[in-house]
Amino acid sequence: MSTAHVATFSHATLAFGDRVLWNDLDLTIEAGEFVAVLGPNGSGKTSFLRTLLGQYRLSAGDMTVTEAVGYIPQQHAADADTMALRGRDLVGFGVDGARWGIGLRGYATRRRKVDAALAEVGASAFADAPVGVLSGGEQQRLRVAQALTGNPELLLCDEPLASLDPASQERVVELIDRRRRTAGTAVVLVTHEINPVMPYVDRVLYLVGGRFLAGPPDEVMTTDTLSELYGSHVEVVRVNGRLLVVGGEEGTAHCSGPEELDHP
Ligand SMILES: Nc1ncnc2c1ncn2[C@@H]1O[C@H](COP(=O)(O)OP(=O)(O)O)[C@@H](O)[C@H]1O
Ligand SMILES: [Mg+2]
Repeated sequence: MSTAHVATFSHATLAFGDRVLWNDLDLTIEAGEFVAVLGPNGSGKTSFLRTLLGQYRLSAGDMTVTEAVGYIPQQHAADADTMALRGRDLVGFGVDGARWGIGLRGYATRRRKVDAALAEVGASAFADAPVGVLSGGEQQRLRVAQALTGNPELLLCDEPLASLDPASQERVVELIDRRRRTAGTAVVLVTHEINPVMPYVDRVLYLVGGRFLAGPPDEVMTTDTLSELYGSHVEVVRVNGRLLVVGGEEGTAHCSGPEELDHP
């Protein structure tokens, strides 16, 4: 795509039956932009990514999006059972998907693409080990590599930091950030933990109970702004340099650090 926009929503609404996830969304995602999608469980974060992937159709309004989209799906516990799969096999799925019969020439090209993606995420050293023996952080780096094999202009990441220790979270975020700086890849990243991504984020899209707010993190992540969005009092506090959102419709804290990870 030659324009600087990788995706544009205009008066966009997504609803399932009576359940409106967002309404009248106007949002343009620029090349190289880092957008964090925040909000409580069930607020529509994954659905937002699925809409960008073309898996969900808007109920109203319009969306345009580049065809070059990479996707790191939300991870589930069952995905970890991968003793028969090597790191390079996982990354290879990004190159050939479900295609068959790519031929000898195809294998050389495939190998080159896989090796380049492995090198980009610093995974060459453990590329031949079974995925199941690798740490969570190493596995997540392979999943980033898989999503990058198609050379995307837009990289969608669904909770890529969940269940990683803080050092691994930082490594994965840095990796994603480096990619958008060097290649101009726009990033839309769903996260429960704002803190590891806070230094990199250009814009926050905050989804709550059918409403949304988009803006720079300093503007969105305030007690007044989020209280208005939630329609009830929430408190944005800083504890030891970390941002915490306390309250909200569930009466619990979220957007917190890894030690409070309790979501699926
Ligand atoms: N294909 C679907 N059909 C019906 N409802 C759906 C579908 N996908 C998601 N939803 C509903 O939309 C809401 C938001 O889901 P989701 O986007 O997964 O939330 P989040 O990722 O923020 O936790 C949930 O109530 C979910 O049940
Ligand atoms: Mg989700």
